[in-house]
Amino acid sequence: ETKTILVDRNVNKEETYTQAVELIKNGELVAFPTETVYGLGADATNPLAVDKVFEAKGRPSDNPLIVHVDSKETALKYVENVSDKAIACMDAFWPGALTLVMKAKSDTFAGNVTADLQTVGIRVPNHPVALNFLKRLKLPVAAPSANTSGKPSPTMAEHVYHDLEGKIPLILDGGATAVGIESTVLDMTSEPPVILRPGEVTKEQIEQLVGSVRLSSDPKGNTPKSPGMKYIHYAPEAPVYLIENDHSLVNKAIKYLHDKEKKVAVLSSSEFPEADFYFPLSAKTLYDSLRKCDMSEADLILAAVSDDEKNDAMMNRLERAADHKWFS
Ligand code: TXA
Ligand code: MG
Repeated sequence: ETKTILVDRNVNKEETYTQAVELIKNGELVAFPTETVYGLGADATNPLAVDKVFEAKGRPSDNPLIVHVDSKETALKYVENVSDKAIACMDAFWPGALTLVMKAKSDTFAGNVTADLQTVGIRVPNHPVALNFLKRLKLPVAAPSANTSGKPSPTMAEHVYHDLEGKIPLILDGGATAVGIESTVLDMTSEPPVILRPGEVTKEQIEQLVGSVRLSSDPKGNTPKSPGMKYIHYAPEAPVYLIENDHSLVNKAIKYLHDKEKKVAVLSSSEFPEADFYFPLSAKTLYDSLRKCDMSEADLILAAVSDDEKNDAMMNRLERAADHKWFS
């Protein structure tokens, strides 16, 4: 039912894309790789196709989807009141892991793409398969991450297959994604612009270009502006605890848990042979490691982080997976 096409070595082959393009034009879904995570694509102008995205993922319908296009020129056809700062961001970071929230031209996208907001999040992905696909399709593609809602985002075609087998007709397999964490979402409709979701493109990089930007307040705050931030994400079945990446501290924790007959998984950039399960920790491997925790028999997960990792996008995802709990 769900077919996977390996595009790794066929990245320039026409027939690789023909099926994908036909499916989207017929209102079906196609999962495809981007540099951040795999997306689950639908024609953003077709409300019935977009409905299928929400259904396949089990996603709440008040959470809008990101629209993917092949270039800045295409993006500009779909938005209005575009600021000079937004143009500067497009020129500097596209194609790339930055989603810009701007005012959508009315009657451009199906209402369920934007959850009936006046704005739309758009980006040009930096991946040859995504770009080849979008160029041939000539339609804007609404694509959230191609995972079941609440599961870690997919960084490999296998993850998509695991979550969506039998629910979608086609997965384009471009191998493991390079970044591993979803794009930075930057709201250009406020002044100064607001980072709604941290990602690979950092606050510092954006500020160098357009001056000061704000980081949106903690997702636990009242009404989050990015609707997606209010949902619990990336939570494996076993509880996750953050812990300082200090060898003796982590080993002490493992021993304490072993005394209580708990099986422990450790996520860290350095190996812990003392743990029952060890999975590597970096932006690129985080989601795969969280999925592997779910397939292991771990009763508890220790995510060992060091100071230099604490402020980046990976830490944002990890804190949410741990529900901000530190091991003590
Ligand atoms: O890297 C990515 O961004 C991946 C790949 C596939 O491009 N996509 C992705 O999409 O992560 P999704 O749907 O899982 O996350 C979209 C995020 C959500 O937090 C959503 O609330 C926010 O972007 N968003 C989308 N449109 C918005 C809008 N108009 N205003 C505010 N936030 C918006
Ligand atoms: Mg997602």
